[in-house]
Parts: sequence; C-alpha cells; structure tokens
Amino acid sequence: MMTMMSGVVCRHILILGIVTLVFITMARRCLSVGVNWGTMASHQLAAESVVKMLKENGFDKVKLFEADDKILSALIGSDIEVMLAIPNYMLQDMSTDPGMAASWIDANVSAYAYTHGVKIRYVAVGNEPFLQTYNGTYLHSTFPALRNVQEAINHAGLGPEVKAVVPLNADIYYSPDSNPFPSAGDFRPEIRDLAIQIVQYLDSNDAPFVVNIYPFLSLYANNYFPFEYAFFNGSNKPMKDGDCVYTNVFDANFDTLAWSLKKAGFPNMKIIVGEVGWPTDGDKHANIENAKRFNQGLIQHALSGEGTPTRKGKIDVYLFSLIDENTKSIAPGNFERHWGIFEFDGKPKYELAIGLSEKPLAAVEGVTYMHKRWCVLKPHLPKDAQIYLAKSVEYACSRSDCTALSYGSSCNHLSEQGNTSYAFNMYYQFNNQNSLDCDFQGLAMVTHNDPSDDKCHFPLMVTDGPKVMLLHKNLLYIILAVLQGFLVVLLLVS
Ligand SMILES: *[C@@H]1O[C@H](CO)[C@@H](O)[C@H](O)[C@H]1NC(C)=O
Ligand SMILES: *[C@@H]1O[C@H](CO)[C@@H](O)[C@H](O)[C@H]1NC(C)=O
Ligand SMILES: *[C@@H]1O[C@H](CO)[C@@H](O)[C@H](O)[C@H]1NC(C)=O
Ligand SMILES: *[C@@H]1O[C@H](CO)[C@@H](O)[C@H](O)[C@H]1NC(C)=O
Repeated sequence: MMTMMSGVVCRHILILGIVTLVFITMARRCLSVGVNWGTMASHQLAAESVVKMLKENGFDKVKLFEADDKILSALIGSDIEVMLAIPNYMLQDMSTDPGMAASWIDANVSAYAYTHGVKIRYVAVGNEPFLQTYNGTYLHSTFPALRNVQEAINHAGLGPEVKAVVPLNADIYYSPDSNPFPSAGDFRPEIRDLAIQIVQYLDSNDAPFVVNIYPFLSLYANNYFPFEYAFFNGSNKPMKDGDCVYTNVFDANFDTLAWSLKKAGFPNMKIIVGEVGWPTDGDKHANIENAKRFNQGLIQHALSGEGTPTRKGKIDVYLFSLIDENTKSIAPGNFERHWGIFEFDGKPKYELAIGLSEKPLAAVEGVTYMHKRWCVLKPHLPKDAQIYLAKSVEYACSRSDCTALSYGSSCNHLSEQGNTSYAFNMYYQFNNQNSLDCDFQGLAMVTHNDPSDDKCHFPLMVTDGPKVMLLHKNLLYIILAVLQGFLVVLLLVS
C-alpha cells in the first residue's frame, strides 16, 4: 500500500468542483488545522505560554495524549477544541470496569467541560492500539473500553458534544501487492471483523474514524519509494486508479481507508487524520527543508477543499507535532524526538502559514533558560582515557538524547571529540547542570563558550517548570530547618 501513488482528480468531479469552489471560498473562514501536543520531554514549557502561542498562531484544535491537569487548566476559556486521550495502559481496566471509565470521564472531562471551560470534543480511547508491533496486546480490550467510555460520557450528559474515538495507525488497512491501488483497499484480514464492529459502533454514535498517516515513514522504510511522491507538489509520474489520478501518497493512503470503509458499508463515514507530519532531524530525509515542504503542502491541500480523489471537501488534520519531545522512545527511529514544528523551547523551526494567516509563526513567550554553561570533553586527556571514553558516551546518551549525532542528523559531522562533548553536555543539561554530572571520571569540564556550530546546536534547557519547584523546595528546607532549630531549643529548655 505504501508503495502506491498519489493525489488526484476524478474527471466527473471536476464540474462539481467548480460549483463547490464558491461555497468553499465562503466556508474558508472556519477551516483550520489542529496539532498534537505531546509532553514526553525532560523540561516542559509553561502550559499557559504554550496555549497563548497556539492562539496567536491560529491553531484552534489540539490533541493531547494524556489528561494533564496543567494543560487542561491552561486551556480553560481558550476556545481551542480538544481531543483528549486515555493511554493504552488503561485500556484493560477500562474494558472490564465501567466504574473506572466513569471516574476517568468525571475527573478529566466533566470537570472541565462546563460553559466557557475546555471545549473537549473527542476522547481518544488508546493510541494506535492495533499497531502491529504491539503483537495484539490491546486487541481484546479496545472495543469494550470504547463502549464503556462512550457510555460514561453519555451518563455524564455530554453525549451530544463529546465523542469517544480510537486513533488507529494506517497499518490496519492495505492494498495487496498484486493490486496496489486505493480501490483495492480493505482492512487487514486478521483485524477486519473487529475493525468493522468498531466502525459500526462509531457510526451509530455519529463519531468519526481517526487515522494516523505518515508519508515520511513510507519513505524511511523503503529505499525505492519515489521521493517526490511523498510531497504534495511532487514532480513524479502520477498514479492512475481507474478514473482517479494520484500525485501524492497521502491521498492514496487516505483513499485506501475510504475504500475500506465503503466496502464495510460506511461510504460516508467522517475521517479525521489524527497525526500527520514530518520530522527535522534523526534521518537523512528528516530536515527543515523537507518538513516545511511537506507540512506547508499538507496544510494548503487540507484546507483548499479539493479533497482526495474519492472524498471532496476539506480534510480534518492534526499535525504531528507541536514541540520536540526529547524523552520519546526511539524504537521507531532516531527521528522520533524531532517531529516538532517548534523546538523544545517553543521557537518555530521554520516558517509555516497556518490557515490563511500571513503572519510569521509566533514563538512561545517568556521562556527562560539555564545558565550559559556547557559540559565538554577536556582538551588534554590522560593516556588511558580512551578506555572510558566510549563507555562514558554510551552512559550519557542512554540517559539523555543523542539522536542528533546519528547518521544523516544535524551533529553527525562532529569529530570524535565533538560528539563526546555533545553526549556529555546533553547528560549535564538533562540533569539541570548539576556539577556532579559533568565529571565522567575526570574526562569532562564545564565551559562558558558555546560549543555549537551553525548546524549542530548544543542546547541549554528551559527553566520554566523546575525553577519554580526549586524555589518552593528551598523554602521548604528553610522552614524545616527553622522548625528543627525550634524543637532543639524546646528540648534543651525542658
Ligand atoms: C485522569 O487522567 C489521568 C491521566 O490519564 C489519570 O492518571 C487519572 O487517573 C485520571 N483520573 C481518574 C479519576 O481516573
Ligand atoms: C512483539 O513480539 C516481538 C517478537 O516476538 C518482540 O520482539 C516484541 O518485544 C513484542 N512487542 C511487544 C510490545 O510485546
Ligand atoms: C514544491 O514546493 C516547494 C516549496 O513550496 C519548492 O521548493 C519545490 O521546488 C516545489 N517542487 C516542485 C516539484 O514543484
Ligand atoms: C563519535 O565519532 C566517532 C568518530 O567520528 C565515531 O566513531 C563514533 O561512533 C561517534 N559516536 C557517536 C555516539 O556517534
């Protein structure tokens, strides 16, 4: 399926297209793209500042992977639509215990879903629970959990505006190698019955099908994948599927799902693309130029109303992702920590027009950084240092983030000294510049000269969260110390 084709015009739809153009122009104002806001980072930005940035940039939908109360509180009154997720590890309990689903909904949805509170529209039950690499772990719990969650939503009186959904990976449908066209699409045989039951349930509840589509992964996984076909203005030969012409893999993939739904008896089921995007580091194809080209093309395509060959109209998409997350698992690849449109510190990585806005992207404001000091390899090393070097780098990298050193990445050009310094520094910054964490058996030292070059950035972490906590902690110690002193005095006196 991934080796297929692209984005198109079915002839008979052209005339209709012209008629709808007027309508689309009128409807454009309310079209927008959403964004995924994940929080798997060593240092978090203040949620209020991120929400402010979302508003300024015209993102009016967010998708969250957890019901984080700091984020939900920051979203109160923001008018940003929210899709909130229940993590996979909770699915088993949710599937067997309706009471648990009810208390989750009470605490995490009802508590915020009041008038002028948080505009929660979807509750995602798990995240890609049928991913092939999960070996069927969530196969039996997902559907019962979905039912329990929607029933809890209904009991809370929120049924009409809040829909339970299941974001699924595009690996649940396919076209056979012998007929690699969208029109040959169907759900994978081993999951087909379950997928259709879920689709039936979603449909009966007026809920959409949520799917994650990743052209980048098609390119990453297959050396023969036609590069241009991953983008929206690509120059490669279009692929024809009957009357439909595909010029990009996103449309082909989307329509493979549309055909799968049609064959299951749901030709009009609404599809939301829950994740789609392009990383900027950690692979030879992951860079600013490709990410900007893909994301800008995607936004234009999604909002233009031209749709895909089988489905006209705007495409509802949530970009992946908002901010880089330096503690995500790199099992899928080194690019996994670099999907952000924004750096870890809330600076835009490149220009991107969100919707119709012509304004440059706004950064997160009020970000503060740790002191300007870095941990690097000492220039003169003892003779036997070589023995510890590799071990120290391995240690530092396994407890921080060295993905920028990998093949094809922004710091891959560094010398051995350079990448050792990079590793030491990342470990030191992850640990809030604790002086004990810049030692490495005497191989490392702190410097005030930024070791970055124009491609490779040695970052300083942000202090938003931790600084406040440290302050509170110190205050607590002082109070405790005073109390202790007071007790000692009392004991002595008595
Ligand atoms: C609310 O959601 C969070 C994050 O998923 C979870 O840890 C917590 O248990 C939930 N609250 C209840 C009462 O279930
Ligand atoms: C799935 O199975 C493979 C091969 O047996 C194994 O390597 C992997 O760890 C399993 N993954 C999970 C999430 O259980
Ligand atoms: C597609 O658009 C990008 C940026 O908008 C541009 O750099 C690129 O040359 C275009 N490619 C083709 C084949 O038109
Ligand atoms: C660091 O650079 C050296 C020499 O270029 C290389 O052999 C080594 O694998 C690199 N280490 C890492 C962690 O990238």
